[in-house]
Amino acid sequence: MVSENAKISQLLAGNWKMNGLRAALAEIRALGRGIADLQGVEVLICAPATLLAEAAKAAEGTPIEIGGQDCHIQNSGAFTGEISAEMLRDAGAKYVILGHSERRQYQGESDVLIAEKVVAACREGLRPIICVGETEAVRDAGEAEQVVTAQLTASLPKDFPAEMGLDELAVAYEPVWAIGTGRTPTTSQIAQMHSALRSALSTRFGSEIAVKIRILYGGSVKPDNAAELLAVPNVDGALVGGASLKAGDFLAIIRASAQIS
Ligand code: PGA
Repeated sequence: MVSENAKISQLLAGNWKMNGLRAALAEIRALGRGIADLQGVEVLICAPATLLAEAAKAAEGTPIEIGGQDCHIQNSGAFTGEISAEMLRDAGAKYVILGHSERRQYQGESDVLIAEKVVAACREGLRPIICVGETEAVRDAGEAEQVVTAQLTASLPKDFPAEMGLDELAVAYEPVWAIGTGRTPTTSQIAQMHSALRSALSTRFGSEIAVKIRILYGGSVKPDNAAELLAVPNVDGALVGGASLKAGDFLAIIRASAQIS
């Protein structure tokens, strides 16, 4: 689907999280065959680091792009277990998810750190997908919009490296309580939040750039709710966890986007 502002195609991004052995590369090949005839959508698989290079190979000759799920703020050095933006790029990644709520929650990542990671990613020409979202307690307290827009503003670096066009940024609104739970906000709650995020981007970058930055919705996107969620104003695509692991399910979500264009 072409977004409401009619300037950008939707991005359907799969987040495999800590899932996927080499056998899962067959899903990428199947997905590549399945989307060969689709127009007007961009498709991304954010695979675990161990699979990135092979995933990039499996996606060759298909419209699928490959992305990472996190990166370090430095390009190399004594940081055992970490993976840099340069390494992701070298493995064939074009995008990187940053500040996913699971990393904010389990690794204690702060907005400030995420902003530094955005700089590191942009320096390497990786397109960051910056994740924001409220907990259920915050939503119940009526503070979701304020908290999520503040999260976005604080996760954006003060200065962006010149290597990356600002319109290549993406934001993913993922309510923490909707991730992996089968629950989703109402379409009007999503519309309201995405409009608030667009305004926050506009305040920061000006409206001309803000309309070109994709704002994805994520959290329990499935084949049976994708059409409804992707048609919400200011929703420019989806970040899909569980339902991106099987080519058939992800394909159904991608088709839902392509059909309503
Ligand atoms: P889910 O995960 O689609 O399984 O809810 C989304 C995400 O965490 O990116």
